[in-house]
Amino acid sequence: MNTLTPILSSPGWELLESLQARQETNPMPLRELGAALRASGIEADLAAGVLTQLALRQAARAKFGPFASHMVFTRDGLEQATRLVVAARHAQRFRASGARRVADLGCGIGADALAIAGLGLDVLAVDIDPEAAGAVAANLRDFEGAQVRLGDVMDLDIAELASEGVDAIFADPARRTGASRGSARITNPEDWSPPLSAVLGWAHAIERVGVKVAPGIAHDVIPADWHAQWVSVGGDLVEASLWSPALAPEGRGRSCLLLDEAGAAHALSSPEGMAANTPAERVEVAPLGAFIAEADPAVIRSGLLGRLADKTGAGIVSDKIAYLTGDDLPDNPFYDRFEVLEVTNLRAKAISAALTSRDAGSVEIKKRGADINPDELRKSLKLGGGSAQLTVIATRLAGRHRAIICKRLPKNL
Ligand SMILES: C[S@@+](CC[C@H](N)C(=O)[O-])C[C@H]1O[C@@H](n2cnc3c(N)ncnc32)[C@H](O)[C@@H]1O
Repeated sequence: MNTLTPILSSPGWELLESLQARQETNPMPLRELGAALRASGIEADLAAGVLTQLALRQAARAKFGPFASHMVFTRDGLEQATRLVVAARHAQRFRASGARRVADLGCGIGADALAIAGLGLDVLAVDIDPEAAGAVAANLRDFEGAQVRLGDVMDLDIAELASEGVDAIFADPARRTGASRGSARITNPEDWSPPLSAVLGWAHAIERVGVKVAPGIAHDVIPADWHAQWVSVGGDLVEASLWSPALAPEGRGRSCLLLDEAGAAHALSSPEGMAANTPAERVEVAPLGAFIAEADPAVIRSGLLGRLADKTGAGIVSDKIAYLTGDDLPDNPFYDRFEVLEVTNLRAKAISAALTSRDAGSVEIKKRGADINPDELRKSLKLGGGSAQLTVIATRLAGRHRAIICKRLPKNL
């Protein structure tokens, strides 16, 4: 049964909207609200549907801010939806390319479709899942130039879409297994739905194609002349996306884009003209310097750590270990920087002694290339209850496991 049915028609919709407005001025715990709805004789399916939407809207604020209060979600749809700050970037690419009508093929609840429509472009949103199609239709309700279709995108004739005026395609293939798709991630892009090769092939009929992919995507499956971009928000790697040349003003290659919740951005790109599928550059190992830095995960996954190392005069602490180091590492938005205080054996006793002598009261533990459990190490540390906040980085230096006691430096950029 389509669980959205009760709230997507009258009088369910009106009930949802009035309760949403009430929750915003005078919030009531949902459990109490449920009891009140049942007591007032509201049908069980409708009460459940309304309460679910109110709860999903609340949860969706993390991705959509205040817009969430006016949107319709399914649980899976919310989980898979692109956060607004990133969807807005996708939409901006379409608008800047001159696209007029974008097909969002596998649109889910429509975060991307909504951002595209919000920039004034027409949208054709297609999904195979009736609940997603119902939700996206509700989410696009205010946009005259938006259309929703229920169907399998693999059955579409892309040339026919072009003849309907579609001049750009966005796809965000489903990448999870199981009926609820709530569990395992599918790593092989050919097992995604639709498969990556099908999406890339659509560019033969419509030249503007963008596709959101898993950040772990292997570089060698990216078409050489496309642009691949890894995006992190507030330090969390949230996606990678591939853009056909017609949607990539920056040219072919790879980049990473760091966004904060306020929308501020920093971008780092591969050298001009580099093929997007070029293997990641090797980074030179350097002796541990006065500073150690941890690059944003988008830098690491995009294979641009070498580029960052070149720009900042850094090396890595050991082969294949993505900590940068140097005696003079400048402040930089692409990494977190730490001042090296001391290096000890990677043993709780040695680390505790070093931390205590430096008046540590709290400690963050990081690791790369060292097989330790940070939570267990933390429990076994004996701190003196001082006031300093320090960092312990467990890693390998010159072939030996070491603990680097350091102090996080503030970012001023
Ligand atoms: C990752 S979600 C899309 C999320 C969307 N970009 C957003 O931000 O809200 C993928 C969607 O593709 C749909 N899908 C998967 N295979 C499909 C197919 N063959 N035809 C149409 N839709 C499909 C799923 O039902 C799911 O809603």
